[in-house]
Amino acid sequence: MEKLIINGGKSLKGSVEINGAKNAAVAILPAAVLASEGKCVIDNIPNIEDVHCLERILSDLGCKVKKLDDNTLEIDATNINSHEACTEDVRRMRASYYFIGALLSRYKEAKVELPGGCPIGVRPIDQHIKGFEALGAEVTIEHGTVNVKAERLLGANIFFDVVTVGATINVMIAATLAEGTTVLENVAKEPHVVDVANFLNSMGADIKGAGTDVIRIKGVKKLKGCNYSVIPDQIEAGTFMIAAAATSGDVTIKNVIPKHLESISAKLIEMGASVEEGDDSIRVKVLKPLKGVNIKTAPYPGFPTDIQQPMCSLLCAVEGRSLITETIWESRHKHVDELKKMGACIKVEGRTAIIDGVDKITGAIVKATDLRAGAAMVIAGLIAKGDTEITSIEHIDRGYPKIEEKFKALGADIRRVVND
Ligand code: EPZ
Repeated sequence: MEKLIINGGKSLKGSVEINGAKNAAVAILPAAVLASEGKCVIDNIPNIEDVHCLERILSDLGCKVKKLDDNTLEIDATNINSHEACTEDVRRMRASYYFIGALLSRYKEAKVELPGGCPIGVRPIDQHIKGFEALGAEVTIEHGTVNVKAERLLGANIFFDVVTVGATINVMIAATLAEGTTVLENVAKEPHVVDVANFLNSMGADIKGAGTDVIRIKGVKKLKGCNYSVIPDQIEAGTFMIAAAATSGDVTIKNVIPKHLESISAKLIEMGASVEEGDDSIRVKVLKPLKGVNIKTAPYPGFPTDIQQPMCSLLCAVEGRSLITETIWESRHKHVDELKKMGACIKVEGRTAIIDGVDKITGAIVKATDLRAGAAMVIAGLIAKGDTEITSIEHIDRGYPKIEEKFKALGADIRRVVND
């Protein structure tokens, strides 16, 4: 087991390159099984544990997966020999459930174990099931495995009861090869939903409206391999923006789509930071003391739930009271107990964290309780006086490529060591 050790207090300076979006890549790789002809060459894939898990699942299904370089994969799904995904890798991560939609679409049949993922609250899949059933599939869950089967998949009108990224993507994938037109309403509009739609269209799908409330999918006969580049990671970019602000730094974050970062930029500006947008970069600079703000998470274009935990660390050490209300997940404040070990003054009432800024926080031994909680600990460690030891960093490695190298290049004193 490894841990990160950070000696805090250094102001971050310089520039950092953002990798491809985790939550787009983890849907695009399963969707690649839809190509019954030709190879998919996908670049700007982040080199993270969740992607490595998916590579193994693809290989287990009979796909030929070739790593062309650190961030490029070639996937040949023409000779898939199984529609069953029931391995430890499937159970470990959330996005493995996209194999249900993809295999159902291509083979009209799939058997996939229920997914794992971050412990941030109940994570039902009822909306995925509702979508598959509306397309004509029979869905059962037995012994922790989802079984889906259909004679034919027929286009349908589906109105989601909640705005869900996962179900929007999964049902969109399933509908690509269905007969007729599928209309998905009340869908998620996150940048990664649009990216998956663009990828499917590059394979020959006919999907319109991704990024709006309604997605229309005209079923096509087959999908082929394509070349595709994943969009930059909104959440990795946001994490570096917050780290720059938290350390009173001056950092240019490169390879980003500034439009995707608007809700985060707006909050940093409200706190008193300077945020300058370039074409594909954002510079965050702090020249005066920052002040507390109130945040409520919401589906895109609202403030992302995946960024509220890192933001909480920043708000611990600025002047005044801040409120963070988490509206998507019911238990996404587990990082608060860890921050309190560092001297933060936070009270959680229901879904709201009430944060009273303190003059300083101090290094401590803390745990990454989930992926973004881990990012929150890194930011807290960067601000804190003295050494912070972060354990359970396998959560961080699931979503942030080369995190310590990137922060080190910005001047942070951070190192990875093997636990005794
Ligand atoms: C995705 O999770 C992301 N994961 C999460 O990021 C992110 O927090 C979340 O979207 C919201 O943006 C991946 O993309 C792999 P949802 P997902 O379906 O798809 C409810 C990270 O840190 N819901 O949008 O699982 C659900 O309970 C991770 O990178 C149902 O009720 O989230 C939640 O309250 C953590 N029924 C809300 O919808 C369903 O069938 C949003 O969930 C599905 C979801």
